[in-house]
Amino acid sequence: MPTILQLDRISKRFDNIQALDNVSFDLREGETHALVGENGAGKSTLMRILAGIYTDYEGQFLLNGQPVHLHSPRDALSRGIGMIHQELSVMPELTVAENLFLGRQLTNGAGLVDWTKMNRVAAEELHKLGFEHIDVRAPLGNYSLGTQQVVEVLRAILSGARVLIMDEPTSALSPPEIERLIQLIDMLRQSNRSIIYISHFLEEVMRVADRITVLRDGQRVDTVEKSSTTMNQVISMILGREVNAQLPSAVARNAAQTLLSVSGLTADVFTDVNLTVEQGEVVGLYGAIGAGHFDLARALFGLYRYDHGTVRVGDQTFPHNFSAGYAIRHGLAFATESRRQSLFMEQPIFRNVMMPHLHRLGRFFAPARRAELELAAPQITLTGVHPADPLNPVGQLSGGNQQKVAIARWLPFPPKVFVVSEPTRGMDVGAKNEVLSILRKFRNEGYGVLVVSSEPETVLSVSDRIMVMSRGRVVAELPNHNLDKDVLMRLL
Ligand SMILES: Nc1ncnc2c1ncn2[C@@H]1O[C@H](COP(=O)(O)OP(=O)(O)OP(=O)(O)O)[C@@H](O)[C@H]1O
Ligand SMILES: [Mg+2]
Repeated sequence: MPTILQLDRISKRFDNIQALDNVSFDLREGETHALVGENGAGKSTLMRILAGIYTDYEGQFLLNGQPVHLHSPRDALSRGIGMIHQELSVMPELTVAENLFLGRQLTNGAGLVDWTKMNRVAAEELHKLGFEHIDVRAPLGNYSLGTQQVVEVLRAILSGARVLIMDEPTSALSPPEIERLIQLIDMLRQSNRSIIYISHFLEEVMRVADRITVLRDGQRVDTVEKSSTTMNQVISMILGREVNAQLPSAVARNAAQTLLSVSGLTADVFTDVNLTVEQGEVVGLYGAIGAGHFDLARALFGLYRYDHGTVRVGDQTFPHNFSAGYAIRHGLAFATESRRQSLFMEQPIFRNVMMPHLHRLGRFFAPARRAELELAAPQITLTGVHPADPLNPVGQLSGGNQQKVAIARWLPFPPKVFVVSEPTRGMDVGAKNEVLSILRKFRNEGYGVLVVSSEPETVLSVSDRIMVMSRGRVVAELPNHNLDKDVLMRLL
């Protein structure tokens, strides 16, 4: 297979961070090339150079053998390179067809925007790829994240992309949606397009990739053929050491006090939910995307209105539709599945960590920065945020490290119950284990943890008990004993 593009000894610095150090990378026609590495290894940075987002770097970029220097994402796309970002960039209020043609509408002979034509072409393209059930005239927001992802991929293809960069495309998808995306990748490969696939899910990587490039600390460790390596070898290359991916097994618990008790909780998207979390227990709440479990988690923290039912923490019954402030003061902590919603990207890490606790540092005066820093710094170190400088803005951290900040922020004043949605989304294997260990540590110290997730692996690896939600209702409750992914998925 001919090589379409080649990055030769690329280096990129951000102030004091060497994000990429002499990295070489090449892509062949019709191949799926996976790019893997720990959080902060430099994957997104390398791809932003390929996609024309970062124009300032050292090293050479060859496209079809010719040196190029891209000036913008538009420039990249005009040369056939399209990037699908970690956070989707579709417009939910626009129709599917409008999204597919965003920024380059088709016109008719009179130079007017031709909607009939765009709708027709959009429907044809979706049909070709086996997505004929999608109505091109419906608002894209009506569809699942998986479908939105597909639309984003098709938009790049319709714009003429021959090379598609997918940065963690499956981290927010449900298992059936992941299957569909993998099928789409296969079809694209058959039409001789090349795909760069960034993911922390190594099982997926081992399925889709032809070759795998591993980055570590801004350097390329190696590029290997998938057929001549194993997942364990890839993990060792990622971490630079042998690993034991097993978590310590759960220690036996004594029957204990109920810390969180929810009864009959009902809102538009969930119905009559009953659940408890005991002292020293991790409860997993598992459901497919759209099952209502994420909104239920928000309701437990006063961020989603419910119609009736009660929430009790310890011996305190919360008032109807209490506020988030009330929840924090009465011993609840919450990390949402969406980093964007909970973190202040321009603010330094320490400020993000202290944000929920400012009321403790003095109500009427702005708290002393030094006091904030002193409380925040140890938590930043403890959760392994990297780089660990508390003064750096959160927006400069890699995706997985932002997630660690969202967890670190509850450690200065540990809550009674920690509700955490998708605790390990977007994290590499090492970071995943670190975060799950932090949750276990909480539990072993006698707090309660509710882990809300659509990733079966996450709930299976950390929970003592698992509740399964489907279409807004709890449909099963099982001790986490002899369970596996298939059992959970069959209950959905
Ligand atoms: N805009 C920026 N300003 C300063 N530093 C940055 C910026 N973007 C990235 N970095 C730093 O560069 C390094 C590489 O980050 P990058 O986002 O490429 O990692 P990644 O491999 O994509 O990680 P993840 O798996 O967590 O998404 C990290 O140390 C990160 O903190
Ligand atoms: Mg990244």
